[in-house]
Amino acid sequence: MTKERATFPSGTGADLHVDLRIELRGTGLRSGLMDALRDAVRSGRLAPGTRLPSSRTLAADLGVARNTVADAYAELVTEGWLTARQGSGTRVARRTAPRRPAPSPQRPGPVRGRPAYSLVPGSPDLASFPRTEWLKAARRAITAAPHEAFGYGDPRGRPELRTVLAEYLARARGVYADPDRVVICSGYAHGLMLLGSVLRSGPRSSGPGRRVREVAVEAYGLDLHWKRLTDAGLRLSALGFDERGTRTGDLAALDGAGAVLLTPAHQFPMGVALPPDRRTAAVDWACATGGLVLEDDYDGEFRYDRQPIGALQGLDPERVVYLGTASKSLAPGLRLAWMVVPEALVGEVAAAKGESDWASGALDQLTLAEFISSGAYDRHVRAMRLRYRRRRDELVGALAERAPGIRVSGIAAGMHAVLELPPGTERAVVRAAAWQGLAVEGLGRFHHPSTPPGPDALVVGYGTPADSAWSGALDALCRVLP
Ligand SMILES: Cc1ncc(COP(=O)(O)O)c(C=O)c1O
Repeated sequence: MTKERATFPSGTGADLHVDLRIELRGTGLRSGLMDALRDAVRSGRLAPGTRLPSSRTLAADLGVARNTVADAYAELVTEGWLTARQGSGTRVARRTAPRRPAPSPQRPGPVRGRPAYSLVPGSPDLASFPRTEWLKAARRAITAAPHEAFGYGDPRGRPELRTVLAEYLARARGVYADPDRVVICSGYAHGLMLLGSVLRSGPRSSGPGRRVREVAVEAYGLDLHWKRLTDAGLRLSALGFDERGTRTGDLAALDGAGAVLLTPAHQFPMGVALPPDRRTAAVDWACATGGLVLEDDYDGEFRYDRQPIGALQGLDPERVVYLGTASKSLAPGLRLAWMVVPEALVGEVAAAKGESDWASGALDQLTLAEFISSGAYDRHVRAMRLRYRRRRDELVGALAERAPGIRVSGIAAGMHAVLELPPGTERAVVRAAAWQGLAVEGLGRFHHPSTPPGPDALVVGYGTPADSAWSGALDALCRVLP
């Protein structure tokens, strides 16, 4: 939950206003609000007698339901923190617990709980989730769904979604996608888990990627994804990385690898696109060795300065598993992703998914199918592309003005950028940012331990904040840069 600001008219003077930060913590909105109000009263930030805003006003300020605020007020009245009288509204009780001194603004301590701003990469702007369009699609999809849609169904997922995705992926990403080869999963990470188990334990037979013991990964990536593979009993070896991207030509020198995991359209987190010769090298290696390429196309829709780079899978659909996700284009909370699997692996991947009994809900799948086929997905992606592009331009502009020594890269696509720092400063900058209430990640966090360390840098997720927090986050970032 984010920190929100609400203005409280003071009861001690008609024109006095207390600008109070309400920090909602924890998972319960009502209990979070109650804790925040108790804190404000205890510390004296809300003085005895102060009139609180109406539940309607505060609910609108905080973006929560009016009942949530009304219930919180009522409970605090019962506990004796607040009083409520007809005609004079809800006020801070005159007799309250002893005050604790407010922390001195001169000495900011480490930020506890949630930071005020987050530029941690990996999340889209969650405030932009297209709630209204999604609800409309859900209504239409559920109304039209056949009775059997409410049953267990095909482990590959709802046929409506697989059909619509096959068409969309071919059109927008250049994927060769027959609906029979599409497998819906609960997030990319789930897909990787399924592929890991199929690669590790699949029967030895002709066809790609069987009985694999080792998987090559990029020098930069996400440890939680690497862990999905090692949890399946696979060893990892990391490929080198240079200014042109991941050195896929080195695959030929790896003895044991039976598969390689790549982010070809937009390397995560470095942000470069894999150049054509290195794309071909990966597919050639797979053909020559019977290996498999696992293509993570996590944010392929968001490219700003030219046409999106098509999927690698189009080069050889029998040697490349394509993995896409709704986590960037819509929201990670949906837990909806998709794989397009070589024909020879479809049966095993579907069986592994059926056995794992980890399916995405049929109603969300039907809703996404309707959302895509109605054109709402394309509209949403287009609108978000414009928004992220504008933020990217603002980030680059702010850096040029306020931190001209910082080199920024990886900005042609996606929703994060890499800001190179002076050598030896990465940890200190991340720490300083935390003290200022800004969450941001250093590049070292994404580096595979078996390859030589890269430059000191920040990975800045400019897509993460809500619009209302963006300029504050950008300002906080510029303040902590050397
Ligand atoms: C590189 C990369 N791939 C894939 C994903 C999507 O993961 P999931 O679909 O499990 O949310 C992410 C999300 O942060 C990511 O950063």
